[in-house]
Amino acid sequence: MRIIVRDTAVEAAEHAADLVVDSAGGVLGLATGSSPQPLYAALAARVADGSVDFGRTRGFALDEYVGLDPAHPESYHSIIARDVIGPLGFSPSRVFVPAGSGTLDEVDARALDYDAAIAAAGGVDVQILGIGSNGHIGFNEPGSAADSVTRRVDLAPSTIAANSRFFRSAGEVPVQAVTQGISTILRARSIVLVASGAAKARAVRAAVEGPVGESCPASFLRLHDEVTLCLDSAAASQLGVGLRSGAGVGA
Ligand code: GLP
Repeated sequence: MRIIVRDTAVEAAEHAADLVVDSAGGVLGLATGSSPQPLYAALAARVADGSVDFGRTRGFALDEYVGLDPAHPESYHSIIARDVIGPLGFSPSRVFVPAGSGTLDEVDARALDYDAAIAAAGGVDVQILGIGSNGHIGFNEPGSAADSVTRRVDLAPSTIAANSRFFRSAGEVPVQAVTQGISTILRARSIVLVASGAAKARAVRAAVEGPVGESCPASFLRLHDEVTLCLDSAAASQLGVGLRSGAGVGA
């Protein structure tokens, strides 16, 4: 695991963008949430100046809410279209998001097919990740197993509370999601996790310095050889002194 620390989220995102452009023409794993926004902005600037072209890149999103119309503005289908497909110039037919609508049987059946679709595309070259304040990656909440695959999950109460800011009423906030599993994520050839802000500092410390295990799903990233954490100084503020400056830890 390599740890890159920059003063600001924008500077950390520039480093992440250097790593993500390697996937152009291949397969990019896409994350939603506020954490990757500066990274998508950095990538969009490089697309605009012609230094990278994602037109032939395939994209696979990490997750989607269950029971939300894909046309809802807060569905991850909508967010990926708005934040990624448009600004980065992906071809819409090459971008895939797990299906969260339909009957639960349909959702479960389509989740089962998602890992096979990623494998059929050749596997993910670079996976972008954020991190939840409880250490989740994708929607793999604490308790998720290392060998989990794409599946329907219950969201943790703290995740439902965090997501409620995007919805008009409590009743509208999804309580389930479909997420790539831990093993799905770990099959990517390389992984770039972006985190910023003091609210993520505890989760970052647990991921980097805590035990590897289900209590902090992001800790499983230490089982992978090609992981880079791109952090601003606030997100890195609870790491051991040596790590706060961006020195790596062993995989
Ligand atoms: C959601 C997403 C995760 C994301 C997390 C953190 O739960 N499913 O992929 O990493 O939120 O969100 P944010 O980056 O907005 O803090």
